Amino acid sequence: MNELQKELTTNLAKFCKDSIEPHMEHDDEAGKFRLDIFQGLGAYGVTGITLPTEYGGAGLSYSDYVYALEEIAKTSVPYAVTVSVSSMVQTIINEYGNDAQKKKYLPALTSGQEIGAFALSESHAGSDAAGLKTTAKKVAGGYQINGTKMWITSGGIAKTYIVMARTGGEGPKGVSAFIVRDGDKGFSFGKAEKKMGWKTSPTRELVFENCFVPDENLLLGEGKGFNVAMGGLDRGRVAIAAIGVGCSQRCLDESVRYALERQQFNQPIFDFQGLQFMLSDMATEVESSRLLVHAAAQSIDAGTPNAKLCSMAKLKSTDGAMRVTTDAVQVLGGVGYTSEFPVERFMRDAKVLQIVEGTNQIQRVVIARHLKKEYGHA
Ligand code: CAA
Repeated sequence: MNELQKELTTNLAKFCKDSIEPHMEHDDEAGKFRLDIFQGLGAYGVTGITLPTEYGGAGLSYSDYVYALEEIAKTSVPYAVTVSVSSMVQTIINEYGNDAQKKKYLPALTSGQEIGAFALSESHAGSDAAGLKTTAKKVAGGYQINGTKMWITSGGIAKTYIVMARTGGEGPKGVSAFIVRDGDKGFSFGKAEKKMGWKTSPTRELVFENCFVPDENLLLGEGKGFNVAMGGLDRGRVAIAAIGVGCSQRCLDESVRYALERQQFNQPIFDFQGLQFMLSDMATEVESSRLLVHAAAQSIDAGTPNAKLCSMAKLKSTDGAMRVTTDAVQVLGGVGYTSEFPVERFMRDAKVLQIVEGTNQIQRVVIARHLKKEYGHA
């Protein structure tokens, strides 16, 4: 970690301890999201960390960003996720949008005054994202969107949505990406999901009924929406991986501290070799995941995002988070299963990291496709 990263994470750790941690147990139970917390993170510059300063971003690197996400996730996976999805939306607008779109939408997102959301999945198009059915029909001056999006992180609390809809024939080439705003006529919110974890991050259905979006809200061009979505997801998957590292690190910290203090059979349980093996495996999982996250982040910083590394980081770190958080509950035993300690919450929050932004089975598909190409079988 360089000096800037140390300062960033130290300040963030203090904000998380003072302003997020005291609410987490209650808000997890109540399913309550607090905009003031998100905006507080904005005041630290982390809601638009990698965006250029001309659009209000902090102008930092992806390597800086993943440290920041890891730090937030040590206290709250859901707030880290809200930041990461909103950041993915900004990256997409910055990467694929034109000047007018950047000027219009980015400043409110980078500052954390507004939240961004990404709408790709549908009830019958999850892993097979190119099978999406939502349509965007060309009409005078714009497009009319009809359809329903499912499982949308920050649905209802976000103001700016990147919505993938079909303007052409079947398959990926018929998909276009649009910027849609909360309040646009014909755009409403459906069912709010009841979930196992991520309870302070709302997940909602989006409903489009003859929702008009002007031509100027089309991103990149007709038929480019699948590439826009996949490009955004390469970066998003590294962010989810960084959150997995934070989630695991917190559970490792809790486990080691507990094992050193908890006495059974007249000795700290840490001194039993069975526990040492578990804790060592957990620590190795955290470090190896972090290394892959940074390798992927460096490829983004170099301007050549390596989709294979991004998928590997997501796969390793989030499968690791599930393992580490489950083991943390085991190390803490009876109290680990109660809300007296946060490890059970982190275990519930870890599960969906293996599912969002492409299931870990899809990450393996992406990795295997790259392997095939590398070995001359394109
Ligand atoms: N970057 C840019 N373009 C890419 C790309 C990438 N990483 N990967 C693929 N593409 C392009 C391809 O080049 C191709 O375009 P061309 O024909 O012009 O070359 C086009 O996209 C289609 O690619 P494929 O033939 O590989 O498409 P496919 O239908 O076989 O699907 C897939 C590939 C990897 C399985 C993809 O569907 C996928 O990633 N599925 C998972 C969906 C997903 O991740 N959903 C996440 C939901 S969002 C979410 O969870 C966020 C949240 O709220 C937390």
